[in-house]
Amino acid sequence: MKEDELRAEIVKFGALLYGRGLAHGSAGNLSVRQEDGTILVTPTNSSLGFLSPGQISKVSAEGIHLVGDPPSKEAFFHLAVYQERPEASAIVHLHSTHAVALSCLCHEDTSDVLPPLTAYQIMRIGRLPLLPYFRPGDRKLADAVRQIAGGHKAMLLANHGPIVSGKSLQDAVHAYEELEETAKLVFLIGDRPVSRLTCEAIADLNEAFPN
Ligand code: 13P
Repeated sequence: MKEDELRAEIVKFGALLYGRGLAHGSAGNLSVRQEDGTILVTPTNSSLGFLSPGQISKVSAEGIHLVGDPPSKEAFFHLAVYQERPEASAIVHLHSTHAVALSCLCHEDTSDVLPPLTAYQIMRIGRLPLLPYFRPGDRKLADAVRQIAGGHKAMLLANHGPIVSGKSLQDAVHAYEELEETAKLVFLIGDRPVSRLTCEAIADLNEAFPN
């Protein structure tokens, strides 16, 4: 896609996520990677529901601001994900309610904080590791993201929210929505006994639908 089409995609999906209540206030940021390696990212303090194509920031692969409004303070973790995941062309980071609630719980095993509940969770998200808390925009957050991004399409930042990457913005949005819905299921189910997908079922899904 050309740059003006990608800018239009960011505006469209920002409005869609805002309209669905997955983004609120000025929380969250979206980005796409262009073929020349530059990144289009939502501006800092912007509302995803009210973006315009021209204001979207463009940064170099090294994070230098090229054009548009000042970029998201989280542009550095977006860059870290792109550097570690050559297949990724888009990233969605939001503060949606159920995913953030999950990020505020104490988890014994931080290597995967979602129980394997449904096929689409396995197909779209895979394992969901929890990273420690860092202040938004802290470069140490980008360093922590870099360390595990290579092996995970999605990560959860403690007391903050998820980072989800995809082959396209639509792919990343679909995966993000699946994550939010799965987190919602976790709270709906609560303490009731759960029928988890078996290791065999998960292996079968991973073989049939490789990420
Ligand atoms: P920006 O407004 O800088 O994108 O930050 C919003 C956010 O979601 C912080 O995590």
